Amino acid sequence: MVSRVIPVDDFDLVIFGGTGDLARRKILPGLFRRFRSGQMPEGSRIIGAARGDLDRAAYQDTIRKAIEEFVPKGARSKEDVAGFLELLDFVKIDATGEGGWKELADMLRPGVVRAFYFSVAPSLFGALAERLHGHACAGPSCRIVVEKPFGRDLESAKALNKTLRDHFDESQIYRIDHYLGKETVQNLMAVRFGNVLFEPLWNAQFIDHVQITVAESVGVEGRGAYYDKSGAMRDMVQNHLMQLLCLTAMEPPSRFDPDAVRDEKLKVIRALDDLSPEDIVRGQYVSEKSGDNYLDVVDDPDSRTESFIAMKLSVSNWRWAGVPFYLRTGKRMKARQSEIAVVFKDAPHSIFGQEQGKHRNVLAIRLQPNEGMDLFVTIKEPGPGGMRLVDVPLDMTFADALGPDAEDVPDAYERLIMDVIRGNQTLFMRGDEVEAAWAWTDPLIEGWTERGEKPYTYDTGSSGPEEAAILMHSEGRRWRDITG
Ligand code: BG6
Repeated sequence: MVSRVIPVDDFDLVIFGGTGDLARRKILPGLFRRFRSGQMPEGSRIIGAARGDLDRAAYQDTIRKAIEEFVPKGARSKEDVAGFLELLDFVKIDATGEGGWKELADMLRPGVVRAFYFSVAPSLFGALAERLHGHACAGPSCRIVVEKPFGRDLESAKALNKTLRDHFDESQIYRIDHYLGKETVQNLMAVRFGNVLFEPLWNAQFIDHVQITVAESVGVEGRGAYYDKSGAMRDMVQNHLMQLLCLTAMEPPSRFDPDAVRDEKLKVIRALDDLSPEDIVRGQYVSEKSGDNYLDVVDDPDSRTESFIAMKLSVSNWRWAGVPFYLRTGKRMKARQSEIAVVFKDAPHSIFGQEQGKHRNVLAIRLQPNEGMDLFVTIKEPGPGGMRLVDVPLDMTFADALGPDAEDVPDAYERLIMDVIRGNQTLFMRGDEVEAAWAWTDPLIEGWTERGEKPYTYDTGSSGPEEAAILMHSEGRRWRDITG
């Protein structure tokens, strides 16, 4: 298979927070990979903007080190790195003062795509936006990119949206949820809407339930201060899992264009029923053996923040009436595994007799690791001895199906930044979507806070608290194993 990399137009990308963790870990290594693949034209420029006392050479050196740290050796050559560093520039800037703004304005070129990545605390968004306009850096065709967390509740998200919209049109604002940039997430749309096989079955008549799991083996170490104020609900469910749910449950948009897709996602969020306390299980990890306890890591023995959450949701519309959506995510679980599993109903009648047991089709969409899909189908066990049924996966591991090209699949950040340059907002969250997600999340968080609920505990390296398993068992269902 021949890889088709279509170069984007020349651009000036300014990264505020250009020396920060995200820039060094994700943004610049990602841009380097796009450069290396030939997607980033040589007429492009990346301008790091930060408070630090750096000049261009020192910035290039910082980024060279970041590439050496975060891009595997086999995926970079000295020449490529040198070529990429040539595209970099640096400006020392004061986000809340006047220093550096004139210099930045002088660096920007007319006639190329202009994008500003706000990789800084949201409290600085307003100051940056004002100065970008004040110094004539931002015109009607420029784009700004912002990261999660996009607020911590409905009120703060509305305030942030207002700050941004006071200065930019919604069509200029790119809110990143990096889960939307994952290869399989987009493939979910390709599978649903590019085939006739699935969509006729994609409803309450044929689907028993949907399970969405985002299990992580890492803990919260190093991010305790942020995480303890957020918990799994704010950190993962309100954004990443909600997006996965939306793409699974949404109606077919009429076109694969930003507003058509985002309108349909918004309808799903608005159709979510309120949950009762029994539909939610929260947990905190503990390890008697290693002493790796959530409460110690966040240094608060009384913390009631969850490092795990499982919940049962219903989407109240004709397509999904009576179909539960089970979501779970947590830190320090058995393995790193993210997947969406669509579990179909039993065949209405078995011609093979009771002794063959129940068999179900499952479509498992694996986000990580081993991106791909498995469609479990029931077949006859090979060999003599009569009709015995087994469930086997039709394996669609992308790496196998697509050969070497699959290894060159851009990671979420690379793809999303290229979409910003192309001016395609389809894989970015619209302001009203973010607000709707908070409007659904807020009362749940307020509920357990008011009730003073303590999370259950779960062992590190497990699948979460026993109570999460019971959430399913009590209805005759079970979570799929986390195998990594
Ligand atoms: C981030 C969360 O948005 O996503 C982290 O803040 C989490 O807590 C991360 O670890 C997971 O992303 P990925 O791509 O590793 O699954």
